[in-house]
Amino acid sequence: MGFFLTIEGCEGAGKTTAKGVVLHWLNANGHDVIETREPGGTPLAEQLRGLVLARHDETVTDTAELLMVFAARSQNLSQRVEPALAEGKVVVCDRFTDATYAYQGGGRGIDEHCIAILEQLVQGDRRPDMTLLLDIEPELGLARARGRAIEQGGILDRIERETIEFFHRVRQVYLARAERFPHQYVVIDGSQSIPEVEAHIIKALQCRLL
Ligand code: TMP
Repeated sequence: MGFFLTIEGCEGAGKTTAKGVVLHWLNANGHDVIETREPGGTPLAEQLRGLVLARHDETVTDTAELLMVFAARSQNLSQRVEPALAEGKVVVCDRFTDATYAYQGGGRGIDEHCIAILEQLVQGDRRPDMTLLLDIEPELGLARARGRAIEQGGILDRIERETIEFFHRVRQVYLARAERFPHQYVVIDGSQSIPEVEAHIIKALQCRLL
């Protein structure tokens, strides 16, 4: 019942473009769609997102960060994702638990078994039906993301300020999970042109949702 589609990737990999393509295709093909994001998706979860991404005067522990993303996830799941899936809708979620394995597991070095325990607690058996992973060299992705942040007059958030090694670890976990869960993941080269990315995404959607 319903279809749970998530979009993942490092900073600057082209998630926003991908999401636009996905939403356009789903709507054009008559699907009933809701869009959400993580951390976020509900008022409380968006507040938690603000706390995760903001820079604080005190050090944010890796455990506190992990628990905040799962607290936000619990809200998003109960208020947005599960009700929509129960109504047979397609849920498009910008990041989900694969991001926790990549950022808190790979990036911060938290044991993946700890993440798996929280995953089970918060989600039960809920897993994405399909994950589009936009893959890009971190050097290229970060240059794009940081350029965009500066263009918009903003400052980099707490995670965007991490080291290049952090993002290499994030990418390695994403790619390792894509190999481990081939039925779930579709890996898209984010360094391709927009029309190439678009064609790849549409092909993947046609395979699963036509
Ligand atoms: P973005 O989706 O707008 O890129 O920003 C969300 C940020 O939050 C991004 O840097 C990845 C990070 N994040 C985690 O660290 N863990 C998570 O579980 C999720 C969903 C996101």
